[in-house]
Amino acid sequence: MGRSKITVVGAGNVGATCAHWLASREVGDVVLIDIAGDPPGNMAKGKALDLAESFPVLRYDVGISGGADYALTAGSEVVVITAGVPRRKKPDGTFPSRDELVQTNQAIVGDVARQVAQHSPNAILVIVSNPLDAMCHVALHESGFPSNRVVGMAGALDTARYKAFIAMELGVSVRDVHGIVLGGHGDEMVPLPRHTSVAGIPVTELIPQEKLDAIINRTRKGGGEIVGLIGVSAWYAPGAAAAEMVEAIVRDQKRVIPSAVLLEGQYGYNGLYIGVPAVLGKGGVEKVLEMQLNDAEKAMLEVSANAVRSVVGVLGY
Ligand code: NAI
Ligand code: 2OP
Repeated sequence: MGRSKITVVGAGNVGATCAHWLASREVGDVVLIDIAGDPPGNMAKGKALDLAESFPVLRYDVGISGGADYALTAGSEVVVITAGVPRRKKPDGTFPSRDELVQTNQAIVGDVARQVAQHSPNAILVIVSNPLDAMCHVALHESGFPSNRVVGMAGALDTARYKAFIAMELGVSVRDVHGIVLGGHGDEMVPLPRHTSVAGIPVTELIPQEKLDAIINRTRKGGGEIVGLIGVSAWYAPGAAAAEMVEAIVRDQKRVIPSAVLLEGQYGYNGLYIGVPAVLGKGGVEKVLEMQLNDAEKAMLEVSANAVRSVVGVLGY
């Protein structure tokens, strides 16, 4: 059996970083696709070559190639879609919300999803482009794939940020922090302190409520914090989070990773992508784990779901 083939569409900040993390874990051979460059594809080709030239130093034994031609991607097992426009600081110092990107990125993600589906009809799609939950609907609609093969990356990143802030607050290893963030990838996302622990000790026993509230608030605004600092949205953590999902799928790890999944009755939602704990393996989304939420948590999830619904409504499907 040959090595797995993984395509990453969009060789910008998140896509190229995701390819780098995938190579570092030797998850499979990587194809980078992007329209940028003169002629189109040269940027992806150049980044792939630069990465390939680092592999003898780093001893990553995988293949990597790039371009704009989807023929390169044929037969991919997993396709990560990062193509689109990111949040960039405007001249007046403000930056667009994720939702403002909806129409621009709908056209881009729709076109990419159609081309990917044509060349890799059995692939599993991992969507990264924003607004994330709505772009999952676009990819599902345009690819014609079953929903277990169209999953969104957001919870993996939001949960990683949440855990990082808890580890920083307590001065403990990130490895011992366990927790989860549910809901859409927006400022209404739902970090769950009741389900968060440090080596099994409930975080509510370790961090006073006021500080925990500040961590929850910082998590919800984690994307904006990076835009505020750099002027453009994050890529190291998003690239790592997407690569973690790809690895779980390719290596059939059955990892439980919070992911944007099309809910069909779970958590009381139907036909809506939102972040929930999902078992990821060869079949893509193999199962959704249902947690017992209390009334306050359910109410927060409903606020987040409503925010997703309002963006999905703009898509016109
Ligand atoms: P970027 O601008 O660095 O890269 C995007 C790339 O997409 C560019 O190189 C561009 O040429 C390419 N592209 C545009 N249209 C294309 C098309 N039709 N076909 C192929 N490639 C195309 O942006 P960055 O920072 O990599 O972000 C990418 C997307 O991911 C944005 O929508 C951003 O908001 C989103 N994002 C989502 C996160 C999440 O948690 N889901 C986290 C971070 C970013
Ligand atoms: C992030 O959360 C902007 O969605 C992007 O970093």
